[in-house]
Amino acid sequence: MTSREYKKVIWTALLILLAFIIGVLIGYFSRTIVFQPDSRTKLLDKLNREGDNRITQKLFDKIDTGQIDNNLRILTGKPRLAGTENNRESGDFVHRRFLQYGLLSETIDYNVTLSYPDKTADNYVSVIEEDGTETFKTVAIVEGDEVQPYNAFSPSGNVMGNLVFVNYARESDFQKLKSMNLSCSGTIVIAKYGKGFRGNKVKNAYEAGAVGIILYSDPGDYSPSGTNSTYPNTVFLPNDGAQRGNIVLNKGDQSTPGYPAKEYSYRLREHELNSRLPKIPCLPISFSNAYSLLSLMTGDQVPDEWKGSLNITYRIGPGLTNKRKINLKVSNTLEYRRIFNVIGKIKGELEPDRYVMLGNHRDAWVYGSIDPMSGTIVMMETARVFGQLLKEGWRPRRSVLFCSWDAEEFGLVGSFEWVEDNSKWLTSQAVAYINVDSAVSGNDTIHLKTVPLLQKVFEDASDKVPDPYGKYNSVYEAWSSHPRFRLYKMGGGSDHVPFLAGLGIPSMYPKYSYLKDIWDSTSTPLYHSRYENYHAFKMIDPELKFAKTMTSIISESIRNLADSRIIPFDIDRYLEYISNAVEELLNHFGQVVGPKMEEWIHRSVNAFHVSAARLKSIIAAINNDNDDPLYARQVNDKLLWLERTFLIGEGLPGNSMYKHLLHSPDSANYYGGVTFPGLGGITQCIDIQNTTECHMEIHKHVAKIIQRIFDASKTLDS
Ligand SMILES: *[C@@H]1O[C@H](CO)[C@@H](O)[C@H](O)[C@H]1NC(C)=O
Ligand SMILES: *[C@@H]1O[C@H](CO)[C@@H](O)[C@H](O)[C@H]1NC(C)=O
Ligand SMILES: *[C@@H]1O[C@H](CO)[C@@H](O)[C@H](O)[C@H]1NC(C)=O
Ligand SMILES: *[C@@H]1O[C@H](CO)[C@@H](O)[C@H](O)[C@H]1NC(C)=O
Ligand SMILES: *[C@@H]1O[C@H](CO)[C@@H](O)[C@H](O)[C@H]1NC(C)=O
Ligand SMILES: *[C@@H]1O[C@H](CO)[C@@H](O)[C@H](O)[C@H]1NC(C)=O
Ligand SMILES: [Zn+2]
Repeated sequence: MTSREYKKVIWTALLILLAFIIGVLIGYFSRTIVFQPDSRTKLLDKLNREGDNRITQKLFDKIDTGQIDNNLRILTGKPRLAGTENNRESGDFVHRRFLQYGLLSETIDYNVTLSYPDKTADNYVSVIEEDGTETFKTVAIVEGDEVQPYNAFSPSGNVMGNLVFVNYARESDFQKLKSMNLSCSGTIVIAKYGKGFRGNKVKNAYEAGAVGIILYSDPGDYSPSGTNSTYPNTVFLPNDGAQRGNIVLNKGDQSTPGYPAKEYSYRLREHELNSRLPKIPCLPISFSNAYSLLSLMTGDQVPDEWKGSLNITYRIGPGLTNKRKINLKVSNTLEYRRIFNVIGKIKGELEPDRYVMLGNHRDAWVYGSIDPMSGTIVMMETARVFGQLLKEGWRPRRSVLFCSWDAEEFGLVGSFEWVEDNSKWLTSQAVAYINVDSAVSGNDTIHLKTVPLLQKVFEDASDKVPDPYGKYNSVYEAWSSHPRFRLYKMGGGSDHVPFLAGLGIPSMYPKYSYLKDIWDSTSTPLYHSRYENYHAFKMIDPELKFAKTMTSIISESIRNLADSRIIPFDIDRYLEYISNAVEELLNHFGQVVGPKMEEWIHRSVNAFHVSAARLKSIIAAINNDNDDPLYARQVNDKLLWLERTFLIGEGLPGNSMYKHLLHSPDSANYYGGVTFPGLGGITQCIDIQNTTECHMEIHKHVAKIIQRIFDASKTLDS
């Protein structure tokens, strides 16, 4: 034989042997599966097992405030600005912790466009006398390796003009100025922070003709107990604190809209990129700096409701005394930087292809003890207690992902890129996303944003957790009897946006908020300033009682979603929500919509009711006596798809990235949520122009709403 023939014989013999072994194995395993009724019943029992309620208490018992405190100290030990070495380091830290907790973990990086102040030039506002001399210049106090206060994605610019005070720079504020015959054209405007997203302020100022905008935190809003009672003695903003923050209305990486920022990605060219970004320079300053500008203003006094609490007479302008002018100089640069998401994973025991997700960002403007770290410590402790249970042999039915996002502060960049990178399987396999950004922002009561489908998950979990004040039997009772009790729509503002508004994945976002009586915003007074540090957090939650309470609520919500046989979505709440939403719609637009459309709206809602009732009876039957695991899975798939049916491929009018007809951010205030976010721009059209075009736009949008409600019904039926 030649060596080739020899090899052939050997190979043939090996193949025959292999075929024999495979045959034996098939015989062995098919016998064990097919011929042993015992193991078959065992398998069925396993597939049909209900979520184990005893796990809840075990999770609660394992929560350890010592571990939470340790993580908080490490994370807040340095400034954690996205795109810097410090945030790569914190990514490594979270990754190593996840592995240590017994999870799988992966770090995923993207190369994205971020915005930073030019290191070689200061950003400032100055006062210029009539003869051209500069008599005042703002200073940003910067220590160590902190970055000076700035508004990310503000264009660079050096503008000079008259100053106009525009209150909070909302649309209504500019309308008021118009009614006073005051033009902002060619001026620099100064606006108070608060009452809406800063990016909308910049857009409104630009549309009013301003050439630049200065943002400041008025002590009336951020130091309500007086300028003598501030950090470090209280959590109120001192006179040299400034709120940083991005001002973009398009979220995700600015250079790769709709696609992940990978090496192979197409990136927008400079002019395409600039057309998406804010148009006028914008700078945040402290109130002691604002005082120096505002105390020089001329013109009429502002309306009473516009006044802040600085010790000056607030005037509208335009301009400063003695023909002084304002000079605003911003030099920011756009830079490609690498960002790092960390994804920890627990593989589900029975349905590993169904995912429950918990996420929060890790990047901060400076130390970020509250935003985001108070949420990151809750997510990490949840991961740790789940890891402990894994070690004890328990594993949830479905998979759980723990997501640490980067560059949220630059416009939800890390979460958007990851969602764009994984959108197809997430669409078919993600059950829910829980966001825990800034989970302890106050210590009065919980502020809950949720989609109706998840409301009950929160209620059930919070009912199992003791009230940290010991006044009520549970957090649920304390929350629902609190004078401030209200439910909030999801809106924008954090990393749930790409999941919910982009892919229709049901989301909730609970956080402890408010300080009794004196502070009623959901963020903290020190928000995005350098004073939001470890010490500030410890003033709100000295014993980590609230961090622990949030960890309990979150762990139990995750357990319920990941381990219940039937996904615990509340369809009744969705029905109620839709019924109220269309009533609101008809109250507002009934005239425009007309009786025919109105009838179709009612027909679609009825169809949804009928299908939901049918599905609920099926679920009841399954819970009673149906042991067909495929049947349960069919029902779960319908539940999983329900939220997706309200997506429209082309996106909402005004922002095509937002595709959910109900749960997308409001276009007038990106932080907020409204019932039908796609009707925001159209409402204005009716109120101001009232042309047939506006009416056609309404018809078009309402037709889409009707279609999607019918789709919801069909999704539950089919
Ligand atoms: C990021 O992408 C840009 C544009 O393709 C490229 O010039 C740059 O080298 C990349 N940076 C890194 C760190 O990969
Ligand atoms: C604004 O100007 C219009 C037209 O010039 C005038 O009719 C109106 O009275 C003015 N309003 C105020 C508040 O000055
Ligand atoms: C604030 O403190 C300063 C200096 O200690 C003091 O002069 C002033 O009266 C205080 N103001 C108030 C309102 O307490
Ligand atoms: C008014 O308030 C500013 C800013 O807090 C402060 O710098 C200034 O000293 C105060 N002036 C008076 C007269 O109280
Ligand atoms: C809640 O926060 C306030 C403000 O920092 C603090 O004074 C208070 O002691 C906190 N309450 C509890 C129960 O920790
Ligand atoms: C808009 O115009 C219609 C007639 O085309 C009228 O009936 C309606 O009252 C107007 N609405 C507003 C808000 O002006
Ligand atoms: Zn945040």
